[in-house]
Amino acid sequence: MTSERKSIHGQWSTRMMFILAATGSAVGLGNIWKFPYITGENGGGTFVLVYLLCIALIGVPIMMAEIMLGRRGRQSPINTMSTLAEDEKRNKRWVWLGWMGMVAGFLILSYYSVIAGWALSYIFRTASGVFIGATAEGVSSIFGDLVSDPERLLAWHTIFMVMTTVVVSRGVKNGLEVAIRFLMPSLLVLLLMVVAYAMTTGHFMEGVRFMFTPGEITQEGVLTAMGHAFFTLSLGMGAIMVYGSYLPRQTSIAKATAFIALADTAVALLAGLAIFPIVFANGLMPGEGPGLIFKTLPIAFGQMEAGTLVGTAFFILLTFAAWTSAISIIEPAVAWLVENKGVNRIYASAWVGLVTWVLGLGTVFSFNIWSDKTWSIPYLFDDYTFFDTLDKLTSNVLLPLGGLFIAIFAGWLMRESSSRGELDSVGWVFRIWQILLRFVAPIAVIIVFLKAVKII
Ligand code: PHE
Repeated sequence: MTSERKSIHGQWSTRMMFILAATGSAVGLGNIWKFPYITGENGGGTFVLVYLLCIALIGVPIMMAEIMLGRRGRQSPINTMSTLAEDEKRNKRWVWLGWMGMVAGFLILSYYSVIAGWALSYIFRTASGVFIGATAEGVSSIFGDLVSDPERLLAWHTIFMVMTTVVVSRGVKNGLEVAIRFLMPSLLVLLLMVVAYAMTTGHFMEGVRFMFTPGEITQEGVLTAMGHAFFTLSLGMGAIMVYGSYLPRQTSIAKATAFIALADTAVALLAGLAIFPIVFANGLMPGEGPGLIFKTLPIAFGQMEAGTLVGTAFFILLTFAAWTSAISIIEPAVAWLVENKGVNRIYASAWVGLVTWVLGLGTVFSFNIWSDKTWSIPYLFDDYTFFDTLDKLTSNVLLPLGGLFIAIFAGWLMRESSSRGELDSVGWVFRIWQILLRFVAPIAVIIVFLKAVKII
């Protein structure tokens, strides 16, 4: 049986609209900024392989579960979890899953917005033509100047937060469709243009080998790959759940998930293929860290035909990709405020935006005045900056933990008649989903966790 509930926030007008919005949420900085730099830091090949396995075996089944829970509950993740726990006669405390997701959302957006601010500032940087003919050192020092200036970072972070809050306050459905329908395919085209440039550097195969030849990986690398599978698919914190809550009943969750996961993975792999050849051609280090794309892509834009135009367009589209993700990160909190506090969307978005903005200051400063202030969390990590701490805490801990609980709830605690009715897939698809969700995903998450904290 499917649920008959209706969302008070409305519904996506078409099935396509949901797919676009969820793809907009999934494809973002995670694919173009984060995937290449963590692949570089973790040595390439094996990391990419583990990441792909995690997408297929953990991410896909959990995404289906998250959409399904959202569509049954039809409310913000917190209220969805409390309603579904009641429906299924389970402990009321499942509502904590919704709370944990909401906290993760605040933490993620606070730094996401700062990085999106870098992309935003690079629109103007690139348009000014400074990268024309620039050397690798020149490009790196331009990036260094940006991040060492708290005032500039703060300004861009503020602008991006305002952009995000404004869209969310008008309801995620208005405006998002146009944005995603045209901008996402254009981003793909530009990415392909950079890949084409990368092929002319003479180091393309070196990049390919780096990404696809298995080598060494640490336990922490495995955890990072798994965490990134959650991050890049927007899983484990309610973003996809809340989008699922606006999903019309007849849509096939399995097909939508397949499309979203494939599109997301394709963009990430293309970003890697665009970036690593440039890294090797210019004697840069793959493990440069969070600045990697900002130190590599401008070199390409400075050398290719019409590079200023292509580069400017690229950073505009990257900003859009980040924007459509950011919107989904705060939607759970905004929906909850509207449902529980009786406030309107404008007020709710303004509050959520403000809290996130303040938290974001920590990330702004961690690249300059706080760059030597570090934090440690026993068993997990030592001496990380504020930014690294937030990033690892969310991607490597909170999202996989959220995903684990989603898998347990949807796989074990929900009656099969509920999930089967909601997924409405052909028999074997349902069975495979069930096996992955009940056994493979939770066991894999637990093992990776325990190994990373060196308990096993
Ligand atoms: N998936 C987004 C990206 O790859 C980030 C995100 C994380 C969005 C968590 C929503 C929830 O950039």
